[in-house]
Amino acid sequence: MARLEKQIEENLLTRIEAELDGEVSEDTRVLIREKLRVKVRQEMGEQIDRITDEIAAGVLQPERERLAEEKPPVVKEEEFLRLGINIRIQHMFLFTSVLTLIVTGLPLRFAELGWSETVIRLLGGIENSRLIHRIGASGLMGVAAYHFLYTLFSRQGRRDFFLLLPRPKDALDVFTMIKHFLGISEERPKFGRFSYIEKFDYWAVYWGCVIMIGSGLLLWFQDFSLRFLPKFGLDITKEAHRDEALLATLAIIIWHFYNVHLNPDKFPGSLTWLTGKISKHEIMEEHALEYEEIMDARAKNGGPRNEDACQVKTPPDCETVSGRCD
Ligand code: HEM
Repeated sequence: MARLEKQIEENLLTRIEAELDGEVSEDTRVLIREKLRVKVRQEMGEQIDRITDEIAAGVLQPERERLAEEKPPVVKEEEFLRLGINIRIQHMFLFTSVLTLIVTGLPLRFAELGWSETVIRLLGGIENSRLIHRIGASGLMGVAAYHFLYTLFSRQGRRDFFLLLPRPKDALDVFTMIKHFLGISEERPKFGRFSYIEKFDYWAVYWGCVIMIGSGLLLWFQDFSLRFLPKFGLDITKEAHRDEALLATLAIIIWHFYNVHLNPDKFPGSLTWLTGKISKHEIMEEHALEYEEIMDARAKNGGPRNEDACQVKTPPDCETVSGRCD
C-alpha cells in the first residue's frame, strides 16, 4: 500500500511540475511541490481509513470475497449405474480367486526360478500352496456356476449375456479403431453397452474357465481321471492347464489391466467395479449408443430429450440404468 501511495504521489507531482515548467520561479515550484505532497498524503490517508472502516463494518466487501460469492454453484455431474451390486460381487469373487490361483499356480509351473521358491516359502511351503490353489479353484468354480445360473435365471443376466454376444458390428468397430489409431481416419466407433474390448474380456474369461476348470479337475482327481484317460491324456491335460494359465495371466495383465487401469484415459483406474457407477461424460464417450438409448427411453417416459432429461435420477429399483427396471 505504501509503495502504491508513493508512486501515485510521484506521478502527480511530476505531471504538475511539467505543467508549471517555465511559468513560475524555482522557489515557488519547490514550495508548491511541498504543499502538494502534504495535501496528497493527507487526502490518501483519509480515503484509506474510510475504506478500511467500511470493510470492517461490512459495508464494502473485499473484492476476493465478493468474486468468490458470485461464482456459479458447482453442478455435480450425473452418474449412471453401469454395474448392479450382484455383478459387482461376482466380479470381486472372480478376481480374488483368479489372483489366488495365479499366485499359487505360477510358482509350481516355474519351480526352477528363484522367485518361485520365495513365493512358495511366503505361502508356507509347497503343500500349503497346493492347498491354497485348490481353495482358489473352489472359489472360481463357485462363481462360474453362480454366473451360469445368473445368465439363465436373472433378467439383467440374460440381457447382458445377449448383449455380450459377438456381432458383425464388432469386427467393423475393430477395423474402424485400427484406422483411427493409424491416423488414417478421424472417426472412432460408437459403442453400445459393451464394446468389442469388453466382449473380448468376457469371452476370454469364459473360455479360460472352461479350460482351467476342466483340466484342473482332471489333475485334482488324478486317480479318477486315469480310470478313463490314458497316462499321456493326463500329461496333455497338464500341459493345457500350464499353458492356458500363462495365457490367462498375460491376457489379464496386458488386455484387461491396460484397458481398465493403465490406459492413459483411465489411469490410475476406473472405480466402476466398486461403485458400479459411470459418469455422464464417460458413458457419452465410451458407450454413446447406450447413452442415446437411455435418453430415448427417458424421452418416451415423459421427460424432454435434452440436457435436463439427464438430471432425472435413476429409479432406485433399477439394477442398471438401461437394464432391469421392474
Ligand atoms: C486362472 C485359473 C488358474 C490358474 C492361473 C492356474 C494355474 C496353475 C498352474 C500354473 C499350475 C502348475 C502346473 C504345473 O505343475 O506346471 C496349476 C496346477 C494345478 N491346478 Fe491350476 N490354475 C487355475 C485354475 C485351476 C482350477 C480351476 C483348478 C481346479 C478345478 C486347478 C487345479 C490345479 C491342480 C490340481 C494343479 C496341480 C497342483 C499340484 O501340483 O498339486 N487350477 N495351476
